[in-house]
Amino acid sequence: MPTEEGQGPLAKRTVEQLKKLEENLSARLHQVQAAGLKLDLTRGKPCAEQVALSDALDGFLAGKYTTESGQDVRNYGGLSGIPEARRLGSELMDLPADNVMVGGNSSLSLMFQSVQFALQKGLWGAGSAWRGEGQDTSKIRFLCPVPGYDRHFSICESLGIEMINIPLTDQGPDMQMAEALVKSDPSIKGIWCVPKFSNPTGCTYSDLTVERLANLANIASPDFLVMWDNAYAVHGVIEDEPLLNIFDLAVHAGTLQNLLVFASTSKITFAGSGVGFMGAETSVLKNFLSHLQYQTIGYDKVNQLRHALFLKNRLAEHMQSHAEIIRPKFVAVQSALDSGLAEDDVAKWTQPRGGYFISLDVPKGLATRIVSMAAKAGVILTPAGATFPYGKDPNDTNIRIAPTFPKLEEVESAMDILILCTRLASVQQLLLGKL
Ligand SMILES: Cc1ncc(COP(=O)(O)O)c(C=O)c1O
Repeated sequence: MPTEEGQGPLAKRTVEQLKKLEENLSARLHQVQAAGLKLDLTRGKPCAEQVALSDALDGFLAGKYTTESGQDVRNYGGLSGIPEARRLGSELMDLPADNVMVGGNSSLSLMFQSVQFALQKGLWGAGSAWRGEGQDTSKIRFLCPVPGYDRHFSICESLGIEMINIPLTDQGPDMQMAEALVKSDPSIKGIWCVPKFSNPTGCTYSDLTVERLANLANIASPDFLVMWDNAYAVHGVIEDEPLLNIFDLAVHAGTLQNLLVFASTSKITFAGSGVGFMGAETSVLKNFLSHLQYQTIGYDKVNQLRHALFLKNRLAEHMQSHAEIIRPKFVAVQSALDSGLAEDDVAKWTQPRGGYFISLDVPKGLATRIVSMAAKAGVILTPAGATFPYGKDPNDTNIRIAPTFPKLEEVESAMDILILCTRLASVQQLLLGKL
């Protein structure tokens, strides 16, 4: 949707020009509303074509249910996972297989469990629980880089952990703020990190940020946790981006016991039937498993084996196929934003090279209004505020765009409407200020 030629930033336009534009945009919005579209940009899910890349998983074992060490994967046992799957986790998380455990179909549940164990039982042995007996644990706090992943924040909320927003820059979390906060407040016990192609901005943490994060536990409370959710470790779409290996840096900094690393195959094979992984220092892993043994005798090893064999020596090629499917959708979002919003100079957006999301910042105070205008015009977006703890974006400015699931034409139509709503709401806001 081209903007009116040669008129420049909205803020520089006259009241008459803005009124005329408002009229045009409103008329267009009415037309769109009448068309009764039903489009959805909310879901950070792989599309049908992507999951189909892994259809061969079904039946892949072809009756061979034993691991290389002779274990029958159909039976009970093996809480930390079969060696083949631990090696897959090691490849994804870039740390030794001995430091990896394999969970069920969700890394998120491993994150929940590890935070819960840290709170109630302790990850570092007897007496280490954050809410242990005799400790002043009236408050446990986590740092939450924002905008961020809503389900991380929900874990904290459901476990009664207070969240502190810190800005997520294009280099990663604001480390100056993170360091100052953890230094002055020992009740801060953790930080959420999505270090590569983050959800929702798509940024990859800079080398310096990763180094500072690896050292953070040295100035924080000794039972501080870096929750390193590397969900998009191999998910380059336009191109891959390098990420420093935090595990090695933590070894060097003496903070390995303060690091938990997560990944999964959710966005590699089947989002609902993949395999989740956690990486940690050996004694931390052992403690975690000693709590976990009361919940399960072992996770689904049949799924572990078929994943390990299916992806063996072909992970990069497989991820290339994913990228080819979703790249046009990412390109469509970028070109729609460039041609539809750049000249107005009212919004800014990220240009990720991979991951699942694009983050749009609209003028302060307008995100909720734009999301609701778009809904009335037939485009469902992630609720405004969802990318912030407690669902509250203090500036009401951030909108998450998830282009992978809909068809390309749907992404294009949805973006036209989102841009239309953003422009109309911005013009109306400016007019209110000028009249
Ligand atoms: C950053 C991040 N972590 C974790 C998940 C969920 O992972 P899993 O399916 O392994 O639970 C998602 C899904 O969108 C995500 O964006």
